[in-house]
Amino acid sequence: MSDDFPYRIEIVNWRNKESNLRSVRSAVFIAEQNVPEEMEWDSMDQICTHILVQDFEGNSIGTARLLPDGHIGRMAVLKVWRRKGIGAAMLRRILQEMRALGMKKATLHAQLTAVEFYEKFGFQKRGKEFMEAGIPHIIMVLDLS
Ligand SMILES: CC(C)(COP(=O)(O)OP(=O)(O)OC[C@H]1O[C@@H](n2cnc3c(N)ncnc32)[C@H](O)[C@@H]1OP(=O)(O)O)[C@@H](O)C(=O)NCCC(=O)NCCS
Repeated sequence: MSDDFPYRIEIVNWRNKESNLRSVRSAVFIAEQNVPEEMEWDSMDQICTHILVQDFEGNSIGTARLLPDGHIGRMAVLKVWRRKGIGAAMLRRILQEMRALGMKKATLHAQLTAVEFYEKFGFQKRGKEFMEAGIPHIIMVLDLS
């Protein structure tokens, strides 16, 4: 933790932190956004790199995942913790990791309500809007080279 970012942000794996990661995604995607359980949980979690943010009491408050092919997904911050810089810190950490791994391009399926958030990092929209889990999305990409 640091003064300018008073939360713990770390890269974790599914095996060690499954319950922490599940708690955030259950609250945000399943309870808040009504994503069906069977769509939220997939076999990719086991091979993804995950980000976990915890508050000063150790409560899990944010998460995101990176697939081996450069796809970023499941970006979620608990509602009461939004607009405090946590999402930005998670995305910066993922992009840092991707550059360290030599990845050249980041891709994601952005919910339309989050497009402006990703545009702040230089992501650009590609193609047409589409529905995923009952929510309108659009593909966004960022050149890392
Ligand atoms: C999208 C999400 C992860 C952003 O997390 P957050 O912690 O609130 O974001 P931050 O506070 O770090 O915001 C960083 C910047 O983006 C802006 N921003 C955040 N969410 C935004 C939104 N939905 N629309 C426009 N701008 C947004 C902030 O104002 C801030 O701007 P600034 O740097 O000029 O001050 C969070 O809103 C969330 O979990 N939403 C529900 C799940 C979801 O929709 N996930 C996205 C799936 S594609």
